[in-house]
Amino acid sequence: MNQVLETIKNRRSVRRYQDDQIKDEELDDILESAIYAPTGHNNQPWHFTIIQDKGLINQINEGANEVMRGMDIEWIAQMGKTENLHIFHRAPTIIMVSARKDALTPLPDCSAAVQNMLLAAESMNIGSCWIGLAKLYFLNEENMKKFNIPEGYEVHFGVSLGYKVRENPNPLPRNKNVFTYFR
Ligand SMILES: Cc1cc2nc3c(=O)[nH]c(=O)nc-3n(C[C@H](O)[C@H](O)[C@H](O)COP(=O)(O)O)c2cc1C
Repeated sequence: MNQVLETIKNRRSVRRYQDDQIKDEELDDILESAIYAPTGHNNQPWHFTIIQDKGLINQINEGANEVMRGMDIEWIAQMGKTENLHIFHRAPTIIMVSARKDALTPLPDCSAAVQNMLLAAESMNIGSCWIGLAKLYFLNEENMKKFNIPEGYEVHFGVSLGYKVRENPNPLPRNKNVFTYFR
């Protein structure tokens, strides 16, 4: 199997990280992979906010937890009440991915960028996780300002990054009965 396919298959959501920070060169490569993702009409409508300050990461975690506790969706509300829950799994680096609200296809564009980063990280044996819950903190205009999210942008996803505590487990089983061929 070629290396790209192997990386795609080996990637797992990593939820335990070492405390050590990843190297700047590694971070740069991961960020560069993001901006090579395809975008609708080549809009490249994204903005990336890189946060490596533990206090700030914890602030976003606590803010998101507070929003979760007040939500109507029972499992999310319960999760928000879980003691010790850290939505970024205590990763030393997080990246928030935002996009211009008036872009053609902001959500798929950000999703493609996130997937590129997860695969780039895996290719360097760096752990990563796609964090949908991170968005909750940024529903608040004041929080958007605190993190200099550009005007007219919406935060869609977070990504956590850090060295893995253990090697990835095997991939989760995949339903292979999802293909229809006409040939
Ligand atoms: C849009 C999206 C949002 C996600 N949000 C979270 C999240 O907030 N926290 C988390 O731990 N994992 C999150 N995940 C990771 C999924 O739980 C994970 O990809 C899935 O269980 C499959 O496991 P794998 O990534 O190891 O193959 C998210 C994944 C996607 C695609």
